[in-house]
This record gives sequence, C-alpha cells and structure tokens, in this order.
Amino acid sequence: MNNKLLTTTLFLSLATGSMTATANDAKTVNPEADRQAMIKYMMDMHGSNKIDGKPITLDDFGHGALIFSDDAYQQFKSVEEFPPYVEHIDEGKKLWNKPFANGKTYNTCAGLNGDLKKVKAMYPYFDDARGEVINLEQAINECRTANGEKPYAYAGRDKELSDLLTYLADESRGQKISVKIDSPGALEAYKLGEMVFHTRRGQLNQSCANCHVSSAGRKIRSEILSPMLGHVTHFPVYRASAGNIVTLQQRYVGCIESVRGFPFPANGKEFKALELYESYMSNGLTLNGPAYRK
Ligand code: HEC
Repeated sequence: MNNKLLTTTLFLSLATGSMTATANDAKTVNPEADRQAMIKYMMDMHGSNKIDGKPITLDDFGHGALIFSDDAYQQFKSVEEFPPYVEHIDEGKKLWNKPFANGKTYNTCAGLNGDLKKVKAMYPYFDDARGEVINLEQAINECRTANGEKPYAYAGRDKELSDLLTYLADESRGQKISVKIDSPGALEAYKLGEMVFHTRRGQLNQSCANCHVSSAGRKIRSEILSPMLGHVTHFPVYRASAGNIVTLQQRYVGCIESVRGFPFPANGKEFKALELYESYMSNGLTLNGPAYRK
C-alpha cells in the first residue's frame, strides 16, 4: 500500500469512527480534534503541491482546486487584476447604502451594524436563544423584514442578495474565519453539518467527503475536485461558465444535483449546519472572496 492510500484509509476510518461516536455519545465529538485531523490529512496529501514556485501553505487552501495547477492559478491571478465581479460589488454597495422605505439602512440592524470589514466574518454562528444557526443572508433578510421590506429568496435565487453578499465579501477580505462551537446547541448543529457532509446521496450515491476529501485533487470529467478545507473562504464566486455570481448555498445545491440528489430546503437547517461545519473546519483561514472560477 502506498503512503497516499494508507493515509486515505486511516482518515476514512477516523471519520467513520467519529461519526459512530456522533450518534452514540455527544461527549466524544470534538470539533477541534476533527479540524486538526482534517488539516493533517490535507497537508499530508497535498502540502507538497507548488503554486508560484513555492509549496502551498494552509491559507492557500482558500484557492480551492487552483492549488492543484499552477497554470490555472496563474490564469486566475491575471483575471483577478481586472475581475469580472466588480460590477456586482458596486451593485451590492449601492443596495447596502440605499435606504429602506422607512429611511433606515442595513447598518442600523444588530449584527450588521458593526465595522463593515468584520460583518461577514461574524457569520455563521449558532444563536443559543433562538436555537438555530444564523448566516449572513438570513441576517440580511431579517433586517429587511424588521424594516418592513420583503425578504429575498435564498440559495442564489435573488440577484440582489447575491450582489449584497459579494459586496460584503469584498469588504471582509483579509479577515480570518473564526467560527465558535461553544454550546450544546452549537455542537448539535455542528454534528448535523458533519452528517450532511459525510452522508452518501443521490443516484450516484456520493457524499461531499467522497469528492472533496478523499478525491480532492483528482479529475472528474473536465474539473479538478477542490479540497473541503478552504471551501467557504472565497464565496460568492463569479463563475465564467454561468456568467454570474454563485453563492455558497447555490453551489451546495449544484453539487447535490450533480449526483442526482434532492437539495435540502433553501436556507433550511441542513444547509446552515453544513455551512457551520465547513466554516469551522476552515477556522484561521483568510477570507479572500469574491473570487473568479471558470
Ligand atoms: C461527484 C462529486 C461531487 C460531490 C459528491 C460534491 N461535489 Fe462539490 N464540487 C464538485 C465539482 C466537480 C466542483 C467544481 C470543482 C471544484 O472546485 O471542486 C465542486 C465544487 C464545490 C465547491 C466550490 C469550490 C470552489 O472553490 O469554487 C464547494 C463549496 C462544494 N463543491 C461543496 C460541496 C458540498 C458541501 C457537497 C456535499 C453536499 C459537495 N460539494 C458534493 C463535485 C462534487
């Protein structure tokens, strides 16, 4: 057995072990140990890849599948000099500053009213009083309804919400992801997210982990599979193939449909838990969105 295979087998048995524990004994679930194991696995598997002539660092995982191809990475860097998503940032900024019918703006709402650079990095979090995960799009929608405006449709179905998320991502560039799992409720949501990530689904019977952990770096059709570490750092993305902005949850929907599965309800507890889980695993990585993808 070569080294790579051995690590894969070890990791998968670790992951399976922790999932059994998830079902049986809440005390044995240790998000921090999971995160360290994921980092070790990803660095063991891919840490010797080079971009810009240097071996990749942990933060480079925020570039997704680009860490597997210096050519693609160089192309990405040149596109980012005149990024195609600038108009979406501008549009999002206008929407952010435009007063509601009652004269107030987003930055009068709790959770959105702090330092603009830090707004995105506060999400997602588990709200103990409400017993649910709150993500940025939900905070935006709750601010709207509190001010008598209609909420946007979730999961990329409203262009204005996608543009607002693009603007806030751009403002937050350089901030670090720092998601906390610090209450029993947060741990439950983390466990749900972990389960969603590891459960096989669809006619193709594949889990997120099958593609984005054990097969990261391999080719599927014409695409190289990204590692889950760093998945959340750069969203929303501008996808050239779609000619538009794609939000994280919209991408989740696309991936589930690609295995011919049924997506969860938009911004329902499964998707929010998945975002919490993926974000926790990327703790410490730098926010670098929005980003260009082919
Ligand atoms: C059959 C394989 C497959 C499965 C299963 C799958 N994906 Fe994907 N996913 C892809 C491909 C292909 C892409 C595009 C290439 C890339 O960036 O990984 C992608 C892209 C992504 C991206 C964007 C990465 C970036 O940098 O732009 C995220 C986030 C993602 N997937 C999350 C998930 C999650 C969460 C699940 C489980 C609900 C999942 N995927 C299931 C194949 C899969």
